[in-house]
Amino acid sequence: MASSSHAPLFVLFLLLLIPSLRTAPNATAVVSRIAFGSCANQSAPQPVWEAIVEFDPQVFIWLGDNVYGDNKRPFRVFGRERTVGPWKNVPRFYPATEEELRRKYELAKANPGYTKLRERAQVIGTWDDHDYGLNDAGKEFSGKVFTQRLLLDFLDEAEDSSRRQQAGVYTSYMFGPEGKRVKVIMLDTRYHRDPLLSDGSILGDPQWQWLERELHGPQSEITIIGSSIQVVSNLSATTGPLFYVESWARFPRERERLFRLIDSSKRNGVLFISGDVHFGEIARFDCGAQYPLYDITSSGLTQSVENSVPAVFRSIMRLLAVLTPTPMRVFTPNCRHKSCSYGQPNFGAIEIDWNSVPHHIKVELRDVQGNSVGGVQFPISELQPLNTVLNKKQGHSFELHCTLETELPWLVRYRLALLFFGTIAGFVIAVVLLSIACLSATNICPKKCKTS
Ligand SMILES: *[C@@H]1O[C@H](CO)[C@@H](O)[C@H](O)[C@H]1NC(C)=O
Ligand SMILES: *[C@@H]1O[C@H](CO)[C@@H](O)[C@H](O)[C@H]1NC(C)=O
Ligand SMILES: *[C@@H]1O[C@H](CO)[C@@H](O)[C@H](O)[C@H]1NC(C)=O
Repeated sequence: MASSSHAPLFVLFLLLLIPSLRTAPNATAVVSRIAFGSCANQSAPQPVWEAIVEFDPQVFIWLGDNVYGDNKRPFRVFGRERTVGPWKNVPRFYPATEEELRRKYELAKANPGYTKLRERAQVIGTWDDHDYGLNDAGKEFSGKVFTQRLLLDFLDEAEDSSRRQQAGVYTSYMFGPEGKRVKVIMLDTRYHRDPLLSDGSILGDPQWQWLERELHGPQSEITIIGSSIQVVSNLSATTGPLFYVESWARFPRERERLFRLIDSSKRNGVLFISGDVHFGEIARFDCGAQYPLYDITSSGLTQSVENSVPAVFRSIMRLLAVLTPTPMRVFTPNCRHKSCSYGQPNFGAIEIDWNSVPHHIKVELRDVQGNSVGGVQFPISELQPLNTVLNKKQGHSFELHCTLETELPWLVRYRLALLFFGTIAGFVIAVVLLSIACLSATNICPKKCKTS
């Protein structure tokens, strides 16, 4: 082939490079707007991208369930394939084939709104269970080698990246010039995770050693740790035995180790972001390190607790959200709902004001229109050991965010379960009483009829 025929191809190649040059990380560019989100059904409409593009983040962070990779059998109590109840004979979820998962990622990546975002912002991320390959799966999941490759393809990870050589998708980034540095640490809570209820490891030894180096490494004004599952809230403690969700709190020793590591690293400005639970919430734990540890949960981009029930039940969902005890949740006057949780599609929006002295950070949850549904704002200097002592002295509401859910009085902790079983018991008693009344009424009549 004549070399001249390669010239148009070369120009095309250059043109193809332009978008990636525009979105290429510039280590010294100041980063002041970061968006994040989780739980996006690739087959559903995804209007939320318009609002995210409008927010104009420099970085977007995926926190998992970026696609719903696994397949789900229908909810079936009776029949040949029973997926629920103690008599169930097939699992509700089963993994996709490599080809199926690739197609799902292609669908997600072709979404016009998401495409627009990719052209404007650097997109990074980690995974949760459904894109890892299977609902609630951990290290035992056998498809993890090919699902890792497909996630990294989806995130446009370079072919020669070390992230493609390691076991798991954990990684970190450093943005911004000296004095305005933002470090983002993305954890992998799947690849090495021991079974639920084992109180074993979430990260596994190699990832722990890596995380230690990352936290002890070069300083940054802010360090965002992205975890697919919630770090601070322990929803299961107050929703059990009705239902349980995954979280760091289900692995208490591992969670304690994480807090101890942050504390001993003496690193300032650490905060968590998370996803997974299909609602948004801002939580804070004041007894994990020497300064408050925030965990901002945004979930999901399409999946949400309120949209999973018929519209008439939405107000019941909101009432239940108010009734669920949440000692870690941050209640602020700007929340849209009384519960200060948000059960419809949402994304997280972080804004850093580098011009104010001291620097300020604002973290909000926003709805699909881009309107705030709640948020917190504080000087970055609050995330330093010294200020905790100061705040305590000034009598801030610190103790409020130190009581674990499991330390709540029994009647408060199990409010939901009591309400649930109380309602059932009330119903059963009503039915029994009514039956007795009916029976005695029908008994009276024949007697009366005989005597008359
Ligand atoms: C990176 O950003 C800085 C500050 O905005 C700018 O001065 C520099 O030229 C940029 N470098 C590249 C390679 O784009
Ligand atoms: C995703 O959306 C499609 C189309 O609305 C729906 O059929 C499917 O059940 C959804 N999947 C999940 C996991 O919600
Ligand atoms: C979270 O709740 C679960 C379920 O009640 C409990 O087993 C676990 O110990 C709790 N974790 C923490 C850190 O309190």
